[in-house]
Amino acid sequence: METRIFKIDPKNIDKKSIFECAEILKQGGTVAFPTETVYGLGANALDKNAVLKIFQAKGRPADNPLILHVHALSELDKYAESVPESVGMLARFFWPGPLSIILEKKNMIPDIATGGLTTVAFRIPSNEIALKLIETAGIPIAAPSANLSGKPSTTDGSHVIEDLSGRVDAIIDAGRSRIGVESTVLDLTVSPPEILRPGGISFRELKMVIPDIKRAYSIDSGSTPRSPGMKYRHYSPDSPLTIIKGSDTRVIKKINDMMSENPGSGILCSDETINRYKSSNRISAGSRNNPSEIASNIFHALRLFDKSGVTGIYCEYFGIGDLEEAVMNRLIKASINIIDLG
Ligand code: TXA
Ligand code: MG
Repeated sequence: METRIFKIDPKNIDKKSIFECAEILKQGGTVAFPTETVYGLGANALDKNAVLKIFQAKGRPADNPLILHVHALSELDKYAESVPESVGMLARFFWPGPLSIILEKKNMIPDIATGGLTTVAFRIPSNEIALKLIETAGIPIAAPSANLSGKPSTTDGSHVIEDLSGRVDAIIDAGRSRIGVESTVLDLTVSPPEILRPGGISFRELKMVIPDIKRAYSIDSGSTPRSPGMKYRHYSPDSPLTIIKGSDTRVIKKINDMMSENPGSGILCSDETINRYKSSNRISAGSRNNPSEIASNIFHALRLFDKSGVTGIYCEYFGIGDLEEAVMNRLIKASINIIDLG
């Protein structure tokens, strides 16, 4: 399949490209597009055949439900069986933005889009290109992250081209994603509401709006039994990733020791520690004082290591406050081993 690439400048969005991509979506095609979290691979959520193409292009297991992307709150009434009052409040604080809200679905949403579940996740992204595309298409856009299933999510147009060129109808390349980790997935069909996946909106922020909110995932293992997608191997770079947790001194010594045994490996660290590693095979994800910087670089760094052909990756544990759960959830799921030095 020939994939059309649309390069769009986020500061000067080309209307004609948006229009053409919206046409592809309306006609049942697939378009990868930027969002503020990661890139998404979109298709018309109301069209079974179009949604099937997403699963085929990614090699995604059929029981892993997709998120419906809409451009306005008023759209929810069309596709959700009922919209609880708390949605209005959540929307006021967090939409458009990195929060996906699960509600009971109406029958018009095909089962294939929700992996056979009777519920469906909604998100209004804040990225202007995404919003314009969804609004112009005039349909809800089902979109998982735009990566091959099992690989790190894509946070740059070039990552999407690497993974999906030849497998989708179009790719919008608009450079790097601002947030760099996916949305927080919140289930409002249970009481009290549960967070199924940590993401761009933190537990602390959500708790301010929904005081009895619960985490349905374990912070240490990154697993979420109730979210179908969470049981699959995820975010995995080609080279095996090991996380090392403990005080800086012990972690740095351990990684330096392991690097002397496996000099072909790479180190994923922070601005604060990078100069304390002996090997030059090292990438800083950013400063610990700037958690958003670390979050936005994490998937990019994993992909850089794969390109450089390292034989393994040793990664520091990033204790970075509010975004720690989202970042470490992704890294733990990408890892084969965690060494806790206590
Ligand atoms: O930031 C994001 O959320 C990105 C951008 C493109 O919007 N999308 C994304 O989609 O990360 P995906 O498919 O890679 O992850 C969606 C997650 C999966 O873990 C899936 O199992 C869960 O949300 N999910 C979606 N609908 C669900 C539902 N009805 N019930 C339980 N979990 C659901
Ligand atoms: Mg994904």
